[in-house]
Amino acid sequence: MSIIDLKLATRGMDSTARWKILKRHVFSFLKHMTLKRFMNFTRAELNRMMKREVLNSYPYILKMESTNICNLRCAYCYDGRRMPVQGERPYGRMTFENFKKLIDEVGLYLFKINLYGFGEPLLFPETLEMIQYASKNNIGIGISSNLNFTDADLPRRIVESGLEVLIFSCHGITQESYSKFMVKGDMSLAMENVKKIVDERKRLRISTPFIDWQYCVTKFNEGEMDLAVAKAKELGVDQIRFLRPFIPPDAENEWFADFFSKHELAGLQRSKAGCAWPYRSAYINYDGGLLPCCQDVRLLGNDFGNVFESGFMNVWNNEKYKSSRRLIANTSVKNSTCNTVCSRCPLIGTAPVENRNNANLTT
Ligand SMILES: C[S@@+](CC[C@H](N)C(=O)[O-])C[C@H]1O[C@@H](n2cnc3c(N)ncnc32)[C@H](O)[C@@H]1O
Ligand code: SF4
Ligand code: SF4
Repeated sequence: MSIIDLKLATRGMDSTARWKILKRHVFSFLKHMTLKRFMNFTRAELNRMMKREVLNSYPYILKMESTNICNLRCAYCYDGRRMPVQGERPYGRMTFENFKKLIDEVGLYLFKINLYGFGEPLLFPETLEMIQYASKNNIGIGISSNLNFTDADLPRRIVESGLEVLIFSCHGITQESYSKFMVKGDMSLAMENVKKIVDERKRLRISTPFIDWQYCVTKFNEGEMDLAVAKAKELGVDQIRFLRPFIPPDAENEWFADFFSKHELAGLQRSKAGCAWPYRSAYINYDGGLLPCCQDVRLLGNDFGNVFESGFMNVWNNEKYKSSRRLIANTSVKNSTCNTVCSRCPLIGTAPVENRNNANLTT
C-alpha cells in the first residue's frame, strides 16, 4: 500500500484536471488545519498504512448529499434511476437538525465537506444554512451545481454563505449541445447566474467561492472546448476542467469523445494502492444512510448503517466496515465474510472493471 494515494480522489480525469483538483484539496487542508485535525489525519493515514480494521480516527473529509432531488435530467447522470427499482432509496432532503447533529459529532476532525451527491444542492434553502453552519465551524464546504435557478437573490446568498468551492456543471457552450447532456437545462440561465456570483464576489471583495467549471466532454461538445475556455475567461470563473464522463459502454458513439484517447486516463484502471475511502472519508445520503463511497448508493440494502439513528462512530467500526477493510487490506485472500459494496467493487479487483458504477463522485 503506497503512502501517497492521491489518485483515488480524481479518477476519470487527465493529469491536468487531476492536478487542479489536488491543488484545491491541499489549499483546503492548509486553510482549515488545527492541531486536532492534524493529529486525526495522521492517525487515519497510519491506520490505512497499517491496514487496521478498527480505527481510532475519524474521517477527515466527508461527502454528504443534502438532497437527491434534481430539476434536470442529465442523460447519463449517475443517478440513472429513471426506472424504479425495488428496495431503492426514495427521494428526499436532509434536515438542518440532522446535519448539525453530525457536524457536532465529527466536525472537529473534518477539513472539508463536499455537500452534494445525486441531486441539486441549490434547490432547497436548508443547503445554505448547512454551508453557513459548517463554515462557522471552520470546515471548507464545496458544492457542485447546475445553476439553473431563477431566484435573483440567490447569487448574493451563495457568496455570503461562506461557500469555499462551487463546481459549476456545464457540459456545452451552445444550448443544443448543452441540453443534449443536461436535459431540461437552460444554458443562458446558468451562465447568467455564474456571472452574478462572480459579480457578488467582486462587490464583497472576497475570493470565495472558488468557481470551478466542470465540463464533461463528449463527441458532440468536444468541438466547443476552445470556445468554453474563452467563455470561462469572459465570465471570470477561476478555472475550467475537462472531464471524461462515465457513459455506459453500449451508448451511441457520439457520447465518446476522441479527446481523451490522446490523454492519460486514470478512469478504468484498478488501484494498485487499494482503496482509501474506508479510512479517510464516507458518503452520507440525505437520510443518514452511510456508505464508504458513492458506489451504488441507490439501494437501501447497501448502507453500512444510519448515522442519524446510531451516531457516526457506531457505524464507522461496525461489522460491515471491519469486513470491508479486511477485504481491501488483502484482496488476494478469499474473504467470504464480506458482503458489501466493497466485495462487489471493480476498483479493487474483486469484480470486472466494466461493472464500475459511479465511484467518481469525488471532486
Ligand atoms: C450528480 S451531480 C450532482 C450535483 C449537481 N446536480 C450538478 O450536476 O453539478 C455530481 C457531479 O456529477 C457530474 N456528472 C454528471 N453526470 C456525469 C457523468 N455521466 N459522468 C461524470 N460526471 C458526471 C456533474 O457535473 C457533477 O459535478
Ligand atoms: S444536474 Fe446534476 S443531479 Fe441533476 S441530473 Fe444533472 S448531473 Fe444529475
Ligand atoms: S466500494 Fe470500492 S471504491 Fe468504494 S470503498 Fe469499497 S472498495 Fe473502495
